[in-house]
Amino acid sequence: MRIIQHSYRLKFQQTEELIEILSKEDRIRKYLEALQNHSPHTLEHSYRVGLLCVDLGLENGFQGREIKLLGYGGLLHDIGKVYIPSKILDKNSFLTSFERELINGHTRLGAEAVEEFEDDLMRIIVGHHEYQINPYPRKGNERRNAKRKEVIERRENNHLVETLTQILAASDFYDALRSERAYQSSKEKEEAERIMLTKYTGNHNYVNQLLMR
Ligand SMILES: [Fe+2]
Ligand SMILES: [Fe+2]
Repeated sequence: MRIIQHSYRLKFQQTEELIEILSKEDRIRKYLEALQNHSPHTLEHSYRVGLLCVDLGLENGFQGREIKLLGYGGLLHDIGKVYIPSKILDKNSFLTSFERELINGHTRLGAEAVEEFEDDLMRIIVGHHEYQINPYPRKGNERRNAKRKEVIERRENNHLVETLTQILAASDFYDALRSERAYQSSKEKEEAERIMLTKYTGNHNYVNQLLMR
């Protein structure tokens, strides 16, 4: 599998190379091939999100394990969609509440799918839609309560996971707005900026960093 075409102006030369290396690992390749077969446009989106995540991670001073987590997170964040019928994924008309619920289930399904990886990857994947106006699967309160429980044991790690999840959530949101989808056309930068500043609830520095790309 080769790196897909994209029109982002990445800041770091090594970003593409890193994503290429990660995507060639056996355990990653098998997931990417499943996405390729089930939903090619989700695979392309996942590559682009992976690139944005790693590039933003480097800009924010992350390295080593964190950069890998961001790369895996970007590449695999929507892996749960392989369990959802493509007829529903590609539907370009109104979704029933049942269909919406099915689609929203991709975060938990995705986290379960990567059980063989370290826990932090599961936590990043399950949270990638939790920094938006209508977050799922957990609303702000649930996330904060869950955090309180964990905070005693793993205070620092918790903060790290939250930061990495916000980078993933912002990159995912941005690429979703900037690329053509079955149900909507791509947005210009100014429009994407306006939407993200009102609907992305994570750290807005990441929005500004994305807009530079
Ligand atoms: Fe998603
Ligand atoms: Fe996504």
